[in-house]
Amino acid sequence: MIRMGTVGTNWITQQLVEALALSKSYELAAVYSRHADTGAAFAAKNHAQASYTDYEEMLTQADLDAVYIASPNSLHFEQAMVAIQHDVSIVVEKPAFSNRQEMTAILAALKQHPQVKFFEAARHVHTPNFQQIEKTLTGLPTVQGAALTFMKYSSRYDQVLDGEAPNVFTKEFSAGALQDLGVYPIYLAIALFGQPENVSLFPTLIATGGDGKGLAVLRYTDYDVTVAYGKTSNSYASSEIYGLKETIEIDSAGELTKVGLRDDQGALTDLSEPALENPMLPEVIDFARVLLAPEETQNEKDYQRWLKWSITVNDVLYSLRVAGNLRFPADEH
Ligand SMILES: NC(=O)c1ccc[n+]([C@@H]2O[C@H](COP(=O)([O-])OP(=O)(O)OC[C@H]3O[C@@H](n4cnc5c(N)ncnc54)[C@H](OP(=O)(O)O)[C@@H]3O)[C@@H](O)[C@H]2O)c1
Repeated sequence: MIRMGTVGTNWITQQLVEALALSKSYELAAVYSRHADTGAAFAAKNHAQASYTDYEEMLTQADLDAVYIASPNSLHFEQAMVAIQHDVSIVVEKPAFSNRQEMTAILAALKQHPQVKFFEAARHVHTPNFQQIEKTLTGLPTVQGAALTFMKYSSRYDQVLDGEAPNVFTKEFSAGALQDLGVYPIYLAIALFGQPENVSLFPTLIATGGDGKGLAVLRYTDYDVTVAYGKTSNSYASSEIYGLKETIEIDSAGELTKVGLRDDQGALTDLSEPALENPMLPEVIDFARVLLAPEETQNEKDYQRWLKWSITVNDVLYSLRVAGNLRFPADEH
């Protein structure tokens, strides 16, 4: 069993610990929260062995194999670095790090601690539906780019409209719509098509100074991938990957709940895998496989592939922000 600790007590950590339990490969060894009562309540609800209000104390005392970091984005780097220094593997929520400098420092620390693994919790690229898309794409005679959309109204935008600045919409927390939702279609593009040659970003700024929605263009040698993302409105548009006469259709580039292939007549074949019991289950199963047997050839190959995705997504998100003039305080360090 993998001894896991957690950081952050919002709904995403609850979903994660439920996925850990379903996988039967982890035990919830410790919970960290800034507030003793929040941490104790989360620990009791999820039968964790201990809760801490001091992060480093948890890393020193709880005998963890790995820690799941689901704090606001700008805090990931420091928390990940301390865990690596304690030889604890890290599962870091997306987007893992604020910029290239942070990613470079993390990679250097991982070199110093070769037994430590780093996973970015990009749940959708670990799902059976992602594998269906990948397989179907390989079968297309030619590829001519994609139009990917992920746009969901955030209840926390109500707070922005009331004059507040919730974490998820502020540059101080390395957040905003590109980082929070745009990252999903960008992950999909990188995992399917690799690193683009250059990128453009057209962000729409909101009262917090962060972006509420936007359009990104990823330019490849033979085609473009356009990404429409946002947290201030809802989109019901499908995402599409273009072959020659065939088109792969995806219900949402963030959820990948439905996947199909349209033929040259427009007829749709449903390729969707059964609905997931918990959207985070495939990723935690994948991470457990690597943590439990890192030396196995396939596990090492998968780990290196996921790491490359994470590094490329970090690089592309940063390039997009430079192109769209969207700087974070974390970039000034
Ligand atoms: N994979 C997914 O589907 C998914 C979905 C949602 C979010 N996420 C990712 O999960 C991460 C957290 O997102 P979120 O929306 O849950 O963030 P959040 O609500 O702003 O904060 C998450 C947790 O971090 C702690 N926290 C909040 N503000 C803090 C501060 N100022 N200083 C230190 N700790 C603070 C809180 O835990 P305590 O009060 O217990 O300390 C809180 O529960 C982000 O990286 C986000 O992108 C992923």
